[in-house]
Amino acid sequence: ATAPVMTIDGPGGAGKGTISRLIAERLGWHLLDSGALYRLTALAAGKHDVALDDEAALAEVAANLDVVFLAEGGATTVLLEGSDATTAIRTEQVGDAASRVAALPAVRQALLQRQRDFQNPPGLVADGRDMGTVVFIDAPLKIFLTASAQERAHRRHLQLREAGVDASLSSLLKEIQARDARDMQRSVAPLKPADDAITLDTTRLTIPEVVNRLTELLAERG
Ligand code: C5P
Repeated sequence: ATAPVMTIDGPGGAGKGTISRLIAERLGWHLLDSGALYRLTALAAGKHDVALDDEAALAEVAANLDVVFLAEGGATTVLLEGSDATTAIRTEQVGDAASRVAALPAVRQALLQRQRDFQNPPGLVADGRDMGTVVFIDAPLKIFLTASAQERAHRRHLQLREAGVDASLSSLLKEIQARDARDMQRSVAPLKPADDAITLDTTRLTIPEVVNRLTELLAERG
């Protein structure tokens, strides 16, 4: 594939999802939400009674994932085996299960080609943990988005409150720290910036500021 790729990696809650969607929209590029594939694998495993430590069976689930992403006017609807899974994949429980299945090499291998298939003209914004280090190693622009764990817990708290969910800030912070640790310490595709990535700390930046900065970087590099 020859289409350009902009990779956006970083820990959960750093704003990657929102930022990636806005940049893809602004550029008219495709969007890969790779975390959704791990979340869908975890959800499908639950549906088919596959244990979260049965690596071979989970890789089978990942390889056979029947998923459709329907992009419509800024929002994406996710269909798993024909039913709407858009909100079901966003729970903390599924996120936690996703980070467990994502630590298994056979699962990551099974999802590799599916992710690369998103690289189509005119370009791709790829959001995840290992987009720049593994999946799109030749991407001309690699971004590593971070924010302090406190700030990420705070953002998640606001997000949940808007959705009518009342979660405690301290338990969210603990969950974020546990997920960070698991994602950074795993032996396969651990979360870390690519050697050629540009790191942007978003702790004190607004969403439009981050989108503008990344669009500028793309213009400078492209
Ligand atoms: O980004 P999101 O929170 O949706 O990702 C859920 C989990 O999937 C992460 O905690 C991480 O363990 C895993 N993941 C991954 N590699 C990616 C994207 C997500 O390991 N490229």
